[in-house]
Amino acid sequence: MTKKLSRGVAVVGVGMSKFGAFPEKHSRDLFVEAYQELKQSVQNGFDPKEIEAFYMGNFSSDHFENQAHLAPIVASWVGLSPVASMRIEDACASGGVALRQAVLAIASGQCDVVLVGGLEKMTDLSAARVTDALALAADTMFEVPAGFTFPGFYASMATAYLDQYHADPDALLKVGIKNHENGALNEKAQFGQRISDVMASKKAKAAQKGLPIPEWADEMDFMKDPKANPMIAWPLRLFDCSPVSDGAAAVLLVSEELAQKYTDHPIYIIGAGQASDGALAERDSLSSVPSAAHAAAQAYEMAGLTPDDIDFAEVHDCFTIAEVMATEDLGFFPRGEGWKAAMAGETARDGKHPVNTSGGLKAKGHPVGASGVAQVVEMWKQLNGLAGGRQLTPRPTVGLTHNVGGTGQTCVVHIFERRS
Ligand code: COA
Repeated sequence: MTKKLSRGVAVVGVGMSKFGAFPEKHSRDLFVEAYQELKQSVQNGFDPKEIEAFYMGNFSSDHFENQAHLAPIVASWVGLSPVASMRIEDACASGGVALRQAVLAIASGQCDVVLVGGLEKMTDLSAARVTDALALAADTMFEVPAGFTFPGFYASMATAYLDQYHADPDALLKVGIKNHENGALNEKAQFGQRISDVMASKKAKAAQKGLPIPEWADEMDFMKDPKANPMIAWPLRLFDCSPVSDGAAAVLLVSEELAQKYTDHPIYIIGAGQASDGALAERDSLSSVPSAAHAAAQAYEMAGLTPDDIDFAEVHDCFTIAEVMATEDLGFFPRGEGWKAAMAGETARDGKHPVNTSGGLKAKGHPVGASGVAQVVEMWKQLNGLAGGRQLTPRPTVGLTHNVGGTGQTCVVHIFERRS
Protein backbone atom coordinates (compact mmCIF):
# COMPACT_ATOMS: atom_id res chain seq x y z
CA MET A 1 0.00 0.00 0.00
CA THR A 2 1.33 3.45 -0.90
CA LYS A 3 2.43 5.30 2.23
CA LYS A 4 1.11 8.83 2.66
CA LEU A 5 1.65 11.47 5.32
CA SER A 6 -1.52 11.68 7.44
CA ARG A 7 -1.51 15.41 6.80
CA GLY A 8 0.56 17.66 4.61
CA VAL A 9 3.68 19.51 5.74
CA ALA A 10 5.08 22.76 4.35
CA VAL A 11 8.31 24.75 4.67
CA VAL A 12 7.53 28.42 5.39
CA GLY A 13 11.00 29.85 5.97
CA VAL A 14 14.69 28.96 5.91
CA GLY A 15 18.05 30.35 7.01
CA MET A 16 21.69 29.40 7.14
CA SER A 17 24.94 30.79 8.40
CA LYS A 18 27.86 31.20 6.07
CA PHE A 19 29.76 27.90 5.84
CA GLY A 20 33.53 27.91 6.36
CA ALA A 21 36.11 27.97 9.14
CA PHE A 22 35.24 30.41 11.94
CA PRO A 23 37.74 30.06 14.79
CA GLU A 24 36.32 33.16 16.49
CA LYS A 25 32.74 31.83 16.63
CA HIS A 26 31.00 29.33 18.87
CA SER A 27 28.62 26.82 17.30
CA ARG A 28 25.77 28.59 19.07
CA ASP A 29 26.65 31.84 17.28
CA LEU A 30 26.40 30.03 13.95
CA PHE A 31 22.96 28.74 14.84
CA VAL A 32 21.86 32.23 15.85
CA GLU A 33 22.88 33.46 12.37
CA ALA A 34 20.81 30.74 10.71
CA TYR A 35 17.81 31.31 12.99
CA GLN A 36 17.87 35.10 12.51
CA GLU A 37 17.89 34.64 8.75
CA LEU A 38 15.05 32.16 9.01
CA LYS A 39 13.00 34.69 11.02
CA GLN A 40 13.51 37.29 8.29
CA SER A 41 12.50 34.83 5.58
CA VAL A 42 9.02 34.04 6.97
CA GLN A 43 6.90 36.49 4.98
CA ASN A 44 4.24 37.22 7.63
CA GLY A 45 6.54 36.60 10.60
CA PHE A 46 5.91 34.25 13.51
CA ASP A 47 5.98 34.26 17.27
CA PRO A 48 8.73 31.91 18.55
CA LYS A 49 6.18 30.75 21.15
CA GLU A 50 4.32 29.04 18.30
CA ILE A 51 7.20 26.55 17.90
CA GLU A 52 6.24 23.27 19.56
CA ALA A 53 9.34 21.17 18.96
CA PHE A 54 12.96 21.59 17.84
CA TYR A 55 14.78 18.76 16.06
CA MET A 56 18.47 19.41 15.54
CA GLY A 57 20.84 17.38 13.34
CA ASN A 58 24.30 17.20 14.86
CA PHE A 59 26.78 14.39 14.41
CA SER A 60 29.36 14.89 17.08
CA SER A 61 29.46 18.04 19.17
CA ASP A 62 30.83 15.68 21.86
CA HIS A 63 34.06 15.17 19.93
CA PHE A 64 34.25 18.40 17.94
CA GLU A 65 33.37 20.80 20.78
CA ASN A 66 33.48 18.74 23.96
CA GLN A 67 29.78 19.48 24.37
CA ALA A 68 27.02 16.88 24.40
CA HIS A 69 23.28 17.46 24.86
CA LEU A 70 23.46 20.33 22.41
CA ALA A 71 19.83 20.76 21.32
CA PRO A 72 18.33 22.21 24.54
CA ILE A 73 21.39 24.43 24.97
CA VAL A 74 21.01 25.84 21.46
CA ALA A 75 17.23 26.16 21.90
CA SER A 76 17.75 28.20 25.05
CA TRP A 77 20.39 30.35 23.31
CA VAL A 78 17.81 31.47 20.73
CA GLY A 79 15.08 31.91 23.35
CA LEU A 80 13.00 28.80 22.70
CA SER A 81 12.97 27.14 26.14
CA PRO A 82 10.88 25.27 27.27
CA VAL A 83 10.15 23.88 23.80
CA ALA A 84 10.84 20.12 23.43
CA SER A 85 14.34 19.99 21.91
CA MET A 86 16.27 16.98 20.72
CA ARG A 87 19.47 16.22 18.91
CA ILE A 88 19.34 13.68 16.08
CA GLU A 89 22.53 11.77 15.31
CA ASP A 90 22.81 9.78 12.09
CA ALA A 91 26.32 10.75 10.99
CA CYS A 92 26.29 13.05 7.94
CA ALA A 93 22.56 12.33 7.49
CA SER A 94 21.75 13.84 10.91
CA GLY A 95 20.18 16.95 9.35
CA GLY A 96 18.05 15.03 6.85
CA VAL A 97 16.84 12.63 9.55
CA ALA A 98 16.02 15.59 11.85
CA LEU A 99 13.90 16.97 9.01
CA ARG A 100 12.16 13.63 8.63
CA GLN A 101 11.39 13.42 12.37
CA ALA A 102 9.92 16.93 12.25
CA VAL A 103 7.78 16.00 9.23
CA LEU A 104 6.48 12.94 11.09
CA ALA A 105 5.74 15.01 14.22
CA ILE A 106 3.53 17.32 12.15
CA ALA A 107 1.99 14.57 10.01
CA SER A 108 1.02 12.66 13.18
CA GLY A 109 -0.91 15.66 14.50
CA GLN A 110 1.33 15.95 17.55
CA CYS A 111 2.67 19.35 16.44
CA ASP A 112 1.65 22.12 14.04
CA VAL A 113 4.85 24.22 14.01
CA VAL A 114 8.32 22.67 14.26
CA LEU A 115 11.82 24.10 13.94
CA VAL A 116 14.47 21.95 12.27
CA GLY A 117 18.11 22.83 12.78
CA GLY A 118 21.43 21.44 11.64
CA LEU A 119 24.72 22.39 13.24
CA GLU A 120 28.34 21.31 13.29
CA LYS A 121 31.52 23.10 14.37
CA MET A 122 34.38 20.95 13.09
CA THR A 123 37.37 23.19 12.50
CA ASP A 124 38.47 23.66 16.11
CA LEU A 125 40.20 20.25 15.91
CA SER A 126 43.27 19.33 13.85
CA ALA A 127 42.65 17.56 10.53
CA ALA A 128 43.86 14.28 12.07
CA ARG A 129 41.42 14.53 14.98
CA VAL A 130 38.57 15.48 12.66
CA THR A 131 39.36 12.40 10.56
CA ASP A 132 39.27 10.21 13.68
CA ALA A 133 35.99 11.75 14.85
CA LEU A 134 34.38 11.22 11.43
CA ALA A 135 35.62 7.63 11.36
CA LEU A 136 33.35 6.91 14.35
CA ALA A 137 30.49 6.87 11.82
CA ALA A 138 32.02 3.73 10.29
CA ASP A 139 32.17 0.23 11.79
CA THR A 140 34.74 0.59 14.53
CA MET A 141 34.93 -3.16 15.12
CA PHE A 142 36.16 -4.12 11.65
CA GLU A 143 36.59 -1.17 9.27
CA VAL A 144 38.39 1.44 11.34
CA PRO A 145 41.00 -1.02 12.77
CA ALA A 146 41.71 -2.00 9.13
CA GLY A 147 42.86 1.57 8.56
CA PHE A 148 39.84 3.06 6.81
CA THR A 149 39.07 6.77 6.92
CA PHE A 150 36.20 8.42 5.02
CA PRO A 151 38.35 9.47 2.06
CA GLY A 152 39.52 5.83 2.05
CA PHE A 153 35.98 4.43 2.01
CA TYR A 154 34.89 6.61 -0.88
CA ALA A 155 38.16 5.92 -2.70
CA SER A 156 37.29 2.19 -2.49
CA MET A 157 33.85 2.93 -3.89
CA ALA A 158 35.37 5.06 -6.65
CA THR A 159 37.82 2.29 -7.54
CA ALA A 160 35.02 -0.28 -7.71
CA TYR A 161 32.85 2.04 -9.81
CA LEU A 162 35.60 2.98 -12.27
CA ASP A 163 36.52 -0.68 -12.69
CA GLN A 164 32.98 -2.05 -13.03
CA TYR A 165 31.86 0.51 -15.63
CA HIS A 166 35.22 1.19 -17.31
CA ALA A 167 34.53 4.80 -16.40
CA ASP A 168 36.84 7.71 -17.20
CA PRO A 169 38.19 9.15 -13.91
CA ASP A 170 38.02 12.62 -15.52
CA ALA A 171 34.28 12.46 -14.79
CA LEU A 172 35.06 12.94 -11.09
CA LEU A 173 37.13 16.03 -11.81
CA LYS A 174 34.25 17.41 -13.89
CA VAL A 175 31.93 17.07 -10.88
CA GLY A 176 34.39 19.10 -8.79
CA ILE A 177 34.65 21.80 -11.47
CA LYS A 178 30.85 22.05 -11.79
CA ASN A 179 30.24 22.26 -8.05
CA HIS A 180 32.88 24.97 -7.62
CA GLU A 181 31.24 26.83 -10.54
CA ASN A 182 27.90 26.73 -8.66
CA GLY A 183 29.45 27.46 -5.26
CA ALA A 184 31.01 30.63 -6.67
CA LEU A 185 27.44 31.90 -7.14
CA ASN A 186 26.44 31.11 -3.55
CA GLU A 187 27.40 33.80 -1.05
CA LYS A 188 27.09 31.28 1.80
CA ALA A 189 29.58 28.81 0.30
CA GLN A 190 32.89 27.96 1.97
CA PHE A 191 34.64 28.04 -1.41
CA GLY A 192 33.43 31.02 -3.39
CA GLN A 193 35.91 30.39 -6.19
CA ARG A 194 35.57 28.69 -9.55
CA ILE A 195 38.48 26.42 -10.38
CA SER A 196 39.61 29.10 -12.85
CA ASP A 197 39.63 31.60 -9.93
CA VAL A 198 41.70 29.18 -7.82
CA MET A 199 44.16 28.89 -10.72
CA ALA A 200 44.41 32.67 -11.04
CA SER A 201 44.94 33.10 -7.31
CA LYS A 202 47.67 30.44 -7.20
CA LYS A 203 49.43 32.15 -10.11
CA ALA A 204 49.18 35.52 -8.38
CA LYS A 205 50.59 34.05 -5.14
CA ALA A 206 53.52 32.49 -7.00
CA ALA A 207 54.26 35.81 -8.74
CA GLN A 208 54.11 37.67 -5.42
CA LYS A 209 56.63 35.28 -3.89
CA GLY A 210 58.91 35.47 -6.96
CA LEU A 211 58.37 31.74 -7.66
CA PRO A 212 57.92 30.22 -11.15
CA ILE A 213 54.36 30.88 -12.28
CA PRO A 214 52.54 27.59 -12.90
CA GLU A 215 51.15 27.05 -16.39
CA TRP A 216 47.92 25.12 -16.83
CA ALA A 217 46.26 24.76 -20.24
CA ASP A 218 42.77 24.68 -18.71
CA GLU A 219 40.80 23.65 -15.61
CA MET A 220 41.21 19.92 -16.30
CA ASP A 221 44.96 20.42 -16.61
CA PHE A 222 44.96 22.11 -13.19
CA MET A 223 42.82 19.32 -11.70
CA LYS A 224 45.32 16.70 -12.93
CA ASP A 225 48.36 18.54 -11.55
CA PRO A 226 49.51 16.55 -8.50
CA LYS A 227 50.98 19.68 -6.93
CA ALA A 228 47.87 21.81 -7.35
CA ASN A 229 45.40 19.00 -6.69
CA PRO A 230 47.22 16.36 -4.64
CA MET A 231 46.03 12.78 -4.23
CA ILE A 232 44.20 12.23 -0.90
CA ALA A 233 43.20 8.57 -1.35
CA TRP A 234 43.59 7.19 -4.86
CA PRO A 235 41.76 8.01 -7.12
CA LEU A 236 40.34 10.90 -5.06
CA ARG A 237 42.26 14.17 -5.02
CA LEU A 238 41.86 17.27 -2.86
CA PHE A 239 39.19 18.76 -5.15
CA ASP A 240 37.22 15.50 -5.02
CA CYS A 241 36.67 15.93 -1.27
CA SER A 242 34.20 18.03 0.66
CA PRO A 243 36.04 20.21 3.18
CA VAL A 244 36.03 20.30 6.96
CA SER A 245 33.51 23.01 7.84
CA ASP A 246 31.61 25.00 10.45
CA GLY A 247 28.03 25.99 9.80
CA ALA A 248 24.37 25.91 10.69
CA ALA A 249 21.02 25.84 8.91
CA ALA A 250 17.41 26.17 10.04
CA VAL A 251 14.01 25.47 8.49
CA LEU A 252 10.50 26.21 9.81
CA LEU A 253 7.90 23.51 9.11
CA VAL A 254 4.16 23.85 9.63
CA SER A 255 1.10 21.78 8.86
CA GLU A 256 -0.24 22.28 5.36
CA GLU A 257 -3.45 23.93 6.55
CA LEU A 258 -1.49 26.60 8.44
CA ALA A 259 1.04 27.34 5.70
CA GLN A 260 -0.75 30.31 4.11
CA LYS A 261 -0.88 32.05 7.49
CA TYR A 262 2.92 32.36 7.35
CA THR A 263 3.63 32.93 3.67
CA ASP A 264 2.06 33.13 0.24
CA HIS A 265 4.89 30.91 -1.05
CA PRO A 266 5.23 27.76 1.06
CA ILE A 267 6.96 24.75 -0.42
CA TYR A 268 5.37 21.41 0.31
CA ILE A 269 7.06 18.15 1.29
CA ILE A 270 5.34 15.61 -0.93
CA GLY A 271 7.68 12.62 -0.63
CA ALA A 272 9.82 11.19 2.16
CA GLY A 273 11.90 8.03 2.39
CA GLN A 274 14.60 6.62 4.62
CA ALA A 275 16.58 3.39 4.53
CA SER A 276 19.64 1.85 6.14
CA ASP A 277 22.40 -0.65 5.45
CA GLY A 278 25.30 -2.42 7.11
CA ALA A 279 28.92 -1.43 6.93
CA LEU A 280 30.60 -1.10 3.54
CA ALA A 281 32.45 -4.37 4.06
CA GLU A 282 29.13 -6.26 4.27
CA ARG A 283 27.87 -5.13 0.85
CA ASP A 284 27.73 -7.19 -2.34
CA SER A 285 28.84 -4.25 -4.45
CA LEU A 286 30.70 -1.04 -3.68
CA SER A 287 29.61 0.80 -6.81
CA SER A 288 26.17 1.91 -5.61
CA VAL A 289 24.45 2.84 -2.35
CA PRO A 290 21.41 0.54 -1.90
CA SER A 291 19.92 2.58 0.97
CA ALA A 292 19.70 5.57 -1.39
CA ALA A 293 17.78 3.57 -3.98
CA HIS A 294 15.40 2.27 -1.27
CA ALA A 295 14.84 5.72 0.26
CA ALA A 296 14.28 7.24 -3.19
CA ALA A 297 11.76 4.53 -4.14
CA GLN A 298 9.74 5.32 -1.00
CA ALA A 299 9.85 9.06 -1.67
CA TYR A 300 8.87 8.71 -5.35
CA GLU A 301 6.00 6.40 -4.45
CA MET A 302 4.66 8.76 -1.79
CA ALA A 303 4.91 11.70 -4.19
CA GLY A 304 3.48 9.72 -7.12
CA LEU A 305 6.43 10.87 -9.21
CA THR A 306 9.29 9.36 -11.21
CA PRO A 307 12.91 10.52 -11.46
CA ASP A 308 12.04 12.33 -14.70
CA ASP A 309 9.62 14.58 -12.78
CA ILE A 310 12.43 15.97 -10.61
CA ASP A 311 13.54 19.38 -11.93
CA PHE A 312 16.70 19.58 -9.80
CA ALA A 313 18.36 17.82 -6.86
CA GLU A 314 20.69 18.55 -3.99
CA VAL A 315 22.65 15.33 -3.47
CA HIS A 316 25.20 14.25 -0.90
CA ASP A 317 28.50 14.78 -2.73
CA CYS A 318 30.80 14.29 0.26
CA PHE A 319 33.20 13.05 -2.42
CA THR A 320 32.72 13.50 -6.17
CA ILE A 321 32.14 9.77 -6.70
CA ALA A 322 29.22 10.00 -4.26
CA GLU A 323 27.48 12.47 -6.59
CA VAL A 324 27.95 10.21 -9.60
CA MET A 325 26.56 7.20 -7.72
CA ALA A 326 23.68 9.28 -6.32
CA THR A 327 22.53 10.27 -9.80
CA GLU A 328 22.19 6.55 -10.56
CA ASP A 329 20.72 5.51 -7.17
CA LEU A 330 18.08 8.24 -7.58
CA GLY A 331 17.24 6.97 -11.07
CA PHE A 332 18.29 10.08 -13.02
CA PHE A 333 20.59 7.94 -15.15
CA PRO A 334 20.87 4.15 -15.68
CA ARG A 335 23.51 2.19 -13.75
CA GLY A 336 26.95 2.83 -15.12
CA GLU A 337 25.83 5.94 -17.02
CA GLY A 338 26.16 8.57 -14.28
CA TRP A 339 29.81 9.24 -15.07
CA LYS A 340 28.98 9.82 -18.74
CA ALA A 341 26.24 12.27 -17.76
CA ALA A 342 28.73 14.14 -15.55
CA MET A 343 31.22 14.28 -18.43
CA ALA A 344 28.52 15.53 -20.82
CA GLY A 345 27.41 18.34 -18.49
CA GLU A 346 23.94 16.87 -17.93
CA THR A 347 24.08 17.71 -14.21
CA ALA A 348 25.13 21.33 -14.78
CA ARG A 349 22.66 24.18 -14.20
CA ASP A 350 21.73 24.13 -17.89
CA GLY A 351 21.73 20.33 -18.13
CA LYS A 352 18.88 17.82 -18.23
CA HIS A 353 19.20 16.98 -14.49
CA PRO A 354 20.75 19.92 -12.59
CA VAL A 355 22.49 18.65 -9.46
CA ASN A 356 23.91 20.64 -6.56
CA THR A 357 23.14 24.15 -7.78
CA SER A 358 24.19 25.36 -4.29
CA GLY A 359 27.74 24.13 -4.89
CA GLY A 360 26.97 20.91 -3.02
CA LEU A 361 28.95 19.68 -0.07
CA LYS A 362 32.08 19.99 -2.21
CA ALA A 363 32.04 23.77 -2.60
CA LYS A 364 29.34 25.04 -0.24
CA GLY A 365 31.01 23.10 2.59
CA HIS A 366 30.03 20.13 4.76
CA PRO A 367 29.44 20.89 8.45
CA VAL A 368 28.11 17.38 8.65
CA GLY A 369 25.01 17.74 10.85
CA ALA A 370 23.95 20.90 8.99
CA SER A 371 24.27 19.61 5.42
CA GLY A 372 20.89 17.86 5.18
CA VAL A 373 19.11 20.99 6.41
CA ALA A 374 21.12 23.33 4.17
CA GLN A 375 19.92 21.26 1.20
CA VAL A 376 16.38 22.42 2.07
CA VAL A 377 17.58 26.03 2.02
CA GLU A 378 18.52 25.51 -1.65
CA MET A 379 15.12 23.91 -2.33
CA TRP A 380 13.42 27.01 -0.92
CA LYS A 381 15.61 29.39 -2.90
CA GLN A 382 15.33 27.63 -6.25
CA LEU A 383 11.60 26.87 -5.98
CA ASN A 384 10.84 30.46 -4.93
CA GLY A 385 13.12 32.08 -7.53
CA LEU A 386 15.49 33.45 -4.87
CA ALA A 387 18.72 31.75 -5.93
CA GLY A 388 20.27 34.84 -7.57
CA GLY A 389 23.00 34.15 -10.12
CA ARG A 390 22.56 30.39 -9.85
CA GLN A 391 18.76 30.48 -10.28
CA LEU A 392 17.52 27.78 -12.64
CA THR A 393 15.38 28.91 -15.55
CA PRO A 394 12.59 28.15 -16.02
CA ARG A 395 11.97 28.26 -12.26
CA PRO A 396 11.68 24.64 -11.09
CA THR A 397 8.50 23.14 -9.66
CA VAL A 398 9.80 19.98 -7.99
CA GLY A 399 13.14 19.34 -6.25
CA LEU A 400 14.71 16.46 -4.32
CA THR A 401 17.19 16.23 -1.46
CA HIS A 402 19.41 13.18 -0.83
CA ASN A 403 21.37 13.05 2.42
CA VAL A 404 23.71 10.15 3.25
CA GLY A 405 25.16 9.04 6.58
CA GLY A 406 28.50 7.24 6.55
CA THR A 407 28.99 5.19 3.40
CA GLY A 408 25.23 4.77 3.07
CA GLN A 409 24.37 3.10 6.37
CA THR A 410 21.69 5.79 6.41
CA CYS A 411 20.05 7.59 3.52
CA VAL A 412 17.13 9.97 3.64
CA VAL A 413 15.36 11.47 0.60
CA HIS A 414 12.72 14.21 0.47
CA ILE A 415 10.77 15.66 -2.46
CA PHE A 416 9.54 19.27 -2.44
CA GLU A 417 6.97 21.06 -4.61
CA ARG A 418 5.84 24.64 -5.08
CA ARG A 419 2.22 25.35 -5.88
CA SER A 420 2.43 29.06 -6.66
N1 COA B 1 38.70 21.04 -1.44
C1 COA B 1 39.47 22.03 -1.95
N2 COA B 1 40.42 22.68 -1.25
C2 COA B 1 40.59 22.30 0.03
C3 COA B 1 39.82 21.29 0.64
C4 COA B 1 38.85 20.65 -0.15
N3 COA B 1 38.09 19.67 0.35
N4 COA B 1 40.21 21.13 1.91
C5 COA B 1 41.20 22.02 2.13
N5 COA B 1 41.42 22.73 1.00
C6 COA B 1 42.43 23.76 0.74
C7 COA B 1 42.48 24.80 1.85
O1 COA B 1 41.61 25.87 1.56
C8 COA B 1 43.94 25.19 1.81
O2 COA B 1 44.13 26.06 0.71
P1 COA B 1 45.26 27.22 0.77
O3 COA B 1 46.57 26.51 0.96
O4 COA B 1 45.15 27.89 -0.56
O5 COA B 1 44.90 28.10 1.93
C9 COA B 1 44.65 23.90 1.48
O6 COA B 1 43.67 23.08 0.79
C10 COA B 1 45.14 23.15 2.69
O7 COA B 1 44.10 23.11 3.65
P2 COA B 1 44.11 22.12 4.87
O8 COA B 1 42.95 22.47 5.76
O9 COA B 1 45.47 22.08 5.46
O10 COA B 1 43.80 20.72 4.18
P3 COA B 1 43.97 19.29 4.79
O11 COA B 1 45.00 18.58 4.00
O12 COA B 1 44.11 19.36 6.28
O13 COA B 1 42.53 18.63 4.50
C11 COA B 1 41.21 17.03 3.36
C12 COA B 1 42.17 18.24 3.23
C13 COA B 1 40.72 16.64 1.98
C14 COA B 1 41.95 15.86 4.00
C15 COA B 1 40.01 17.46 4.27
O14 COA B 1 39.31 18.51 3.64
C16 COA B 1 39.05 16.30 4.51
O15 COA B 1 39.30 15.46 5.37
N6 COA B 1 37.92 16.25 3.79
C17 COA B 1 36.96 15.17 3.93
C18 COA B 1 36.02 15.46 5.06
C19 COA B 1 35.12 14.28 5.30
O16 COA B 1 35.53 13.13 5.27
N7 COA B 1 33.84 14.55 5.58
C20 COA B 1 32.88 13.52 5.82
C21 COA B 1 32.46 12.94 4.55
S1 COA B 1 31.57 11.44 4.71
